[in-house]
Amino acid sequence: MQVFFNNEFVEDDKVHISPFDRGFQFADGIYEVIRYYPRNFFELDAHLKRLKYGLTELSITFSNVESIEAILTELISRNNLSDKTAIAYIQITRGAQRPRKHSYNDEAVPTFLAYVEEQPINYDTLNNGVKVGIEQDIRWHRCDIKTIALLPNVLSKQRAVQKNLFEIIWHRDGVITEGVQTNVAFVKDDVVYTPPLNNLILPGITRQTVLRLCRSLGIQTSEREIQLNELKNFNEIFLMSTTAEIMPVISIDDVVVGRGVPGNLTKHLQREFQKLH
Ligand SMILES: Cc1ncc(COP(=O)(O)O)c(C=O)c1O
Repeated sequence: MQVFFNNEFVEDDKVHISPFDRGFQFADGIYEVIRYYPRNFFELDAHLKRLKYGLTELSITFSNVESIEAILTELISRNNLSDKTAIAYIQITRGAQRPRKHSYNDEAVPTFLAYVEEQPINYDTLNNGVKVGIEQDIRWHRCDIKTIALLPNVLSKQRAVQKNLFEIIWHRDGVITEGVQTNVAFVKDDVVYTPPLNNLILPGITRQTVLRLCRSLGIQTSEREIQLNELKNFNEIFLMSTTAEIMPVISIDDVVVGRGVPGNLTKHLQREFQKLH
């Protein structure tokens, strides 16, 4: 596969990452995942804006964000994916540095990797909905940064897979935050509720798109704290992410949501979302 590494397009097996890279040693870096639908990177500007936000928050000096669109477009072409549904993965770390120390040198040169790979939409799960579990959110307090430090996500997702669940929804001491790889929304009386943006959740691009879509369709939305003990009151629940799109939830820890099938408002939003790309 052709990837882009630092300043050039190369075969993936030609990439050499330093053993002293701070991404490797400290998870000192950020990433993005962007959907490619045939001929179009979905919400690319919003993803690049979030990438810039992460770079600023971590004081990583990487000045080539403006060239990313051209690089991704070229990657799609070089890997013959123009007519496919794919994802683009971008990672920027602070770069290599010696001697090993937690604090960083301003001279470290960031490491940049981008690649694209085919990833079809899973229409089966979109149509039938998915089962999820609930766990305590044990992450740090800067979940608004899309950092590559993902161990809590990895371990929660592994438990989900072992239990045949699609996703884990997290709560912090009884207040819902988000899913391992998704934002989450709840529906009651035709109003869409979702936790507000703060340092405890990722500002999801799909979440932002869905809220905008709701406004354009005249669907009422409310960004407010949602308590764990409120979950039983909602008729519909859905997940939102770049890879999962708008994914209906049909049960949480074996408690059925609504009628146990994707709800009408969720299906309506799915249809309208499909039209956007
Ligand atoms: C923790 C977390 N929340 C939410 C999302 C959804 O974000 P987006 O819609 O930008 O893909 C992701 C995506 O990877 C995520 O990792």
